[in-house]
Amino acid sequence: MSNIKRIGVLTSGGDCAGLNAIMRAVVNSATEKGWEVYGIKNGTDGLTETPRAYEILTVENFSESPWPRLSGSYLGSINKGVKMGSLEEMSRRFAEGVKELGLDALVVIGGDGSMNIVSNYCKGTNIRMVGVPKTIDNDTPITRSSVGFSTAREVCEQAIDSLELTARSHNRAIIVEVMGRDAGHLAMHSALAGYADVCLVPEIPYSINNIIKKLKQIKATGRNHAIIVVSEGIKTEKGEHISNKKNLIGEAVYGGVGDYLSAELNARYKNFQTRVTTLGHLQRSGRPTAFDRLLGTLFGAGAVHLLANGENNKMIVWENDKVNAYDIEEVVKEGTTLLDVHSDYVNAAKAVGMYIGEI
Ligand code: F6P
Repeated sequence: MSNIKRIGVLTSGGDCAGLNAIMRAVVNSATEKGWEVYGIKNGTDGLTETPRAYEILTVENFSESPWPRLSGSYLGSINKGVKMGSLEEMSRRFAEGVKELGLDALVVIGGDGSMNIVSNYCKGTNIRMVGVPKTIDNDTPITRSSVGFSTAREVCEQAIDSLELTARSHNRAIIVEVMGRDAGHLAMHSALAGYADVCLVPEIPYSINNIIKKLKQIKATGRNHAIIVVSEGIKTEKGEHISNKKNLIGEAVYGGVGDYLSAELNARYKNFQTRVTTLGHLQRSGRPTAFDRLLGTLFGAGAVHLLANGENNKMIVWENDKVNAYDIEEVVKEGTTLLDVHSDYVNAAKAVGMYIGEI
């Protein structure tokens, strides 16, 4: 059993749909137990910066507002702060924040990277911590699904449906660039759901000539339009990085592969005009699907349940239709979950005649 009186909740990393569903579930479940909930603003910044940035959250915050039905993060998030400053310095500032706010436990809604960093900060305090996975990339280890993926997939599928209409009107091959970093889950799921002709993912090498072969086959059937889905993390045909862009902390910034592919196709094949649509951050802000609301609710309630049972340093996962939990170290050790090139998704794509690379 726990002696918890007050917990904190924060979102860290890139936003996505379903974050507010998780928060609502955390606040409602914690309130049921008689705990107070402090919503920490802007990731860990709300704890490590002064003045501390937080808001006392009550059931009314979510029942009297449309927030649980919207994407974005009610609390705000950061995609960098957890890595700014040395571990010692950040841990010290974090511990001061925790003490000042009188937190007994913390729910961190984020990717496994942010969870690992925050879990290290927590080790210097008496605070207990549980992580809830969210990412449109769906590459968090162990969990079958992360909150946000389902909505992003829906956004991509709807975009493909719309783009197919204009591709059809203008006899074009439209290249749809989707997010996902080094994992092709979002691209492959969207391509399957959007009935794409070609799907390129970082996990599978490809040949431009074979993409052209596919386009020629399409022409031969009398169809003059095509949809090519490309994951932002693909490399060139020769396996080189397409962009060298870096963010403020030196991490690779993805994006731009659609233009590379378009130029390569146009240079070698003149019978299909191409156009590129990069879906970008729209993928993070669709109306949360039923599944993301559901998973967010199960995960939020699950996080509070774990804390009430005295658990610490765990990440919630979705496994075989059940909410389970693993030690954060164990999750991190697994590394990023890439698209399984032998999965039924990949097999079905091949079976229906989609060109998915040299496999
Ligand atoms: O990890 C989520 C994600 O949306 C990736 O798919 C994408 O590459 C990245 O974040 C974009 O990050 P930012 O919002 O910092 O541009």
